[in-house]
Amino acid sequence: GFWAVVPAGGAGTRLWPLSRKGYPKFFLDLTQSGRSLIQGTWDRLLPLSTPDRLMVVTGVDHSQGVRDQLPDLLPGNLLSEPMPKESAAAIGLAAAVLARRDPEAILGSFAADHMISGNEAFLSAVTEAAVTAKKNLLVTIGIAPSHPATGFGYIRLGDRLNIEGAPNACRVSQFKEKPDSRTASAYLSSGSYRWNAGMFVVRAKFLMELLHQNCPELAEGLDKIAEVWENESERTRVITDIWPTLPKIAIDHAVAEPAAAEGKVAVIPATFGWDDVGDFSSLADILPTEIGHARVLGDQAMVITDQVAGGIIVPGSGRLVACLGVDDLVIVDTPDALLVTTRARAQEVKKIVGKCKDGG
Ligand code: GDD
Ligand code: MG
Repeated sequence: GFWAVVPAGGAGTRLWPLSRKGYPKFFLDLTQSGRSLIQGTWDRLLPLSTPDRLMVVTGVDHSQGVRDQLPDLLPGNLLSEPMPKESAAAIGLAAAVLARRDPEAILGSFAADHMISGNEAFLSAVTEAAVTAKKNLLVTIGIAPSHPATGFGYIRLGDRLNIEGAPNACRVSQFKEKPDSRTASAYLSSGSYRWNAGMFVVRAKFLMELLHQNCPELAEGLDKIAEVWENESERTRVITDIWPTLPKIAIDHAVAEPAAAEGKVAVIPATFGWDDVGDFSSLADILPTEIGHARVLGDQAMVITDQVAGGIIVPGSGRLVACLGVDDLVIVDTPDALLVTTRARAQEVKKIVGKCKDGG
């Protein structure tokens, strides 16, 4: 059957001070829908699965927050990591556990903190991906790039696979994680690349095979943990021993790049709206609420603007935020920290968080 896995990691640095070390982006309601990003992810995945086949992998510090926000998540489906080891370990742990629970399990991994619009198109892409994954391929979802972003993985489209039930599936001829900006520009103008949406659909057993082949140290450690996973006391002992020794690597480098070089990766080109909201500037682009010409997240009554253009204002400390004659500013007010920067420097917010005494 199909299992949805949601890796929920994150340092809470790029949207600081809205997000914090103990309160990463996925806990925030950036869509102003009354549901946080991880809750929105849960809602979106439910039609593909049932609550007992939804799994979340998160750090031990965020487990309680995840339980609070997702009351229907089964305790046995919340995998918590003693410390962050990046996405290969997080998704690999889910794969190792699932491969033992259900040898035929198809795992779909979906980031906890992305914004997606066009649910029908999303569900149809994932359904095609699940059909394609049965052919022992690692399946990605490809988004048409709109600018030469350097923060994403790029997928070079290969030939159409002609799989029944997955008419759009193509082979990936190359997977390139986070190219520099010159390379990204060349990819964009070539027209044959897609952004990797950070979603992977794959048979759990096949993902473990790929991990054994390309990152054996990680795969062996994960297998040892998975062997005792369903036994709670054994689990704690084994994970405490093994987890700190696991290599820290992204699944894109550990698996997607080498597997694509062997023709084992497929892509479903998709048409739904997708954004990973990497900083306040990209958040400004998607916020619907405008006061004057500034975007606002939060209580509109707490913002006054005059001759302001292009900025983003996030009130949140209970005091009024008034702006006059400033363009393209980022102003984020919280009870204990106030951020003021420009949209052009929004990517650098994580640097300043590094200067906070307590790490933000
Ligand atoms: N549980 C857990 N623990 N999850 C983690 C950890 C960890 O230590 N590290 C990362 N993750 C989760 C993140 O929460 C996210 O859901 C996913 O794994 C990907 O990790 P990111 O750190 O957000 O990766 P990225 O944004 O740099 O790049 C990936 O996503 C892009 C799309 O947003 C890549 O897959 C790119 O190719 C892709 O374009
Ligand atoms: Mg990301």
